[in-house]
Amino acid sequence: MKIALYYFSGTGNTERIADTIARELEELNVEIDTFNITSYKERQQNYDLAHYNAFIFGFPIYAWRAPRVVREWLKSLNGKGKRCATFFTYGGVTFGAAHYNTKEILEGSNFILIASSEFPGKHTFNLAGWDFLENRPDKGDFDIAKKFARKILKRFQEKEISRIDIEDPMISKQIFEKFEKREKSLPKPSRSGKECSMCRTCEEVCPSSAMNADTGEADNDKCLRCLRCMINCPDNVLEIADMSKIIEFILNANNLTKHELERRKSKIYC
Ligand SMILES: Cc1cc2nc3c(=O)[nH]c(=O)nc-3n(C[C@H](O)[C@H](O)[C@H](O)COP(=O)(O)O)c2cc1C
Repeated sequence: MKIALYYFSGTGNTERIADTIARELEELNVEIDTFNITSYKERQQNYDLAHYNAFIFGFPIYAWRAPRVVREWLKSLNGKGKRCATFFTYGGVTFGAAHYNTKEILEGSNFILIASSEFPGKHTFNLAGWDFLENRPDKGDFDIAKKFARKILKRFQEKEISRIDIEDPMISKQIFEKFEKREKSLPKPSRSGKECSMCRTCEEVCPSSAMNADTGEADNDKCLRCLRCMINCPDNVLEIADMSKIIEFILNANNLTKHELERRKSKIYC
């Protein structure tokens, strides 16, 4: 059994879960190749899926779905009827339609989804004044990631294919359009005119080629607000405006208390 694991991770939560799953599978003597497809350049490569028997895809949840650039990338693949599993990390607010929406895309690309899972993790916007799940994922989450690795391996090896059934959350197109509009009104990382060593790391790591190292500004329409440029800037000059004022709005809009958010658990669906 040879497995390929592809993941996108702006600030590291998804990468930590991906590493845990990959290590567990290696301990079970599975041959596994891991690909970090976060950068724009990494997603332009021609990945040869023919070498693999099964696939694992791991993404953060951005506005209830996998990130826009990931959805586009998934549509460009051809799974040739092979099995796959998905996992998501999210900031504890809501995973929304991510499982269902990604399953639809994968099926459109000729993959068969046999399991999925979700892992709460430090919210990206903690870098902009939020304080959601600062210490997650933790040991409990990593233990569930290992359990997920064992479960999916069994499902990949079974003679009979068991497709996962995920209920359609019935989210209208208008809701997603509203989210996309809201994303573009969020603050974005900026050098704010400060000097830097012009190493251009911000441009290299940007998943959507939004960042311009010369101006120190990100293109508003292209920027995903993943903040990968900020955490990778060796000069530490990129910053983002404080977003703590919208914490209450986010909690209320999701009918959620901070206490409930902190108690989120990792879950496996299969
Ligand atoms: C633009 C954007 C939208 C997000 N939307 C959601 C969301 O709908 N629900 C949620 O719980 N967390 C949301 N998050 C938080 C991330 O899903 C979470 O922090 C994730 O674990 C980040 O993964 P990473 O560290 O691998 O990038 C969002 C983050 C960003 C940047």
